[in-house]
Amino acid sequence: MNSLQELFTLQGKTALVTGASGGLGVEFARALAVAGADVAVLARRKERLRKVAREIEQLGVRCLPVTADLTVQDDLERALAEIHEGLGAVDILVNNAGVAPFGKAERQTREQWDSALAVNLTAPFVLCQHVARAMIERGGGGRIINISSVMGEVASSIFPTVGYNASKGAVTNMTRQLAVEWARHGITVNAIAPAWFPTEMNRDPKIGDINPKYKERMEQFTPMGRLGNEGELMAAVIFLASPAASYVTGAILPVDGGWLAW
Ligand SMILES: NC(=O)c1ccc[n+]([C@@H]2O[C@H](COP(=O)([O-])OP(=O)(O)OC[C@H]3O[C@@H](n4cnc5c(N)ncnc54)[C@H](OP(=O)(O)O)[C@@H]3O)[C@@H](O)[C@H]2O)c1
Repeated sequence: MNSLQELFTLQGKTALVTGASGGLGVEFARALAVAGADVAVLARRKERLRKVAREIEQLGVRCLPVTADLTVQDDLERALAEIHEGLGAVDILVNNAGVAPFGKAERQTREQWDSALAVNLTAPFVLCQHVARAMIERGGGGRIINISSVMGEVASSIFPTVGYNASKGAVTNMTRQLAVEWARHGITVNAIAPAWFPTEMNRDPKIGDINPKYKERMEQFTPMGRLGNEGELMAAVIFLASPAASYVTGAILPVDGGWLAW
């Protein structure tokens, strides 16, 4: 590999990004498309996915919107079949869809706990299994990138999200286990651990932004003194998906303004 282009190109690859109807998933899908990959964008909200797909196709790649609820096994399997038919075999899987049920630990309901684990942990595991099985069969290796969180490493003194934090801790260690088991098949499995990026997940719908009470504390405890900006996660996903990262597996890459450094 002699050029920057060769190090980072994803031309000829097919990627699947879950949770790409809004928030960080759109950024991940856009990043992979910028590097040349065809992308399937998956979530429940059809119209939003169509809009994202139209925007991504402007980059000169194919983009397939796929509607599915990842907590429903049949839906998930149907979605994978649709992607295979529309774009071919998945080379790059980005497990990004997530939910963060909010409430003090002593008051979280069983439904909240179950939903955090179903979307954030079980669905990514099942997708990893399906995609890796096909990669193993094809024999060409592949890339899996799980979107964990700084809350996969440490607790949160800002948001009471016990189910979310438990699920992210599990995703982080699942990433390491899968990396070890699938290394011999040429499949790399890594995770990105973002800190704070304004999205629907943490915006207060009543004020259209992160509640200033929380935002102040996010800024205060982030060494860089600010939240993440749009575009600041793009390089991480391109790198982990690219030829340049061929010997990187089992890594958890924080993109967090230094949150995990202290
Ligand atoms: N924003 C942050 O500060 C931050 C920090 C650390 C980690 N993260 C992680 O980054 C990822 C993306 O978060 P975000 O902030 O972009 O959240 P977001 O704006 O709330 O987006 C979540 C995405 O997940 C999809 N989704 C939720 N439940 C689903 C289901 N059952 N089936 C299919 N899709 C589902 C949603 O689409 P539909 O509603 O259309 O299904 C949406 O596209 C998550 O894993 C999150 O934990 C975010």
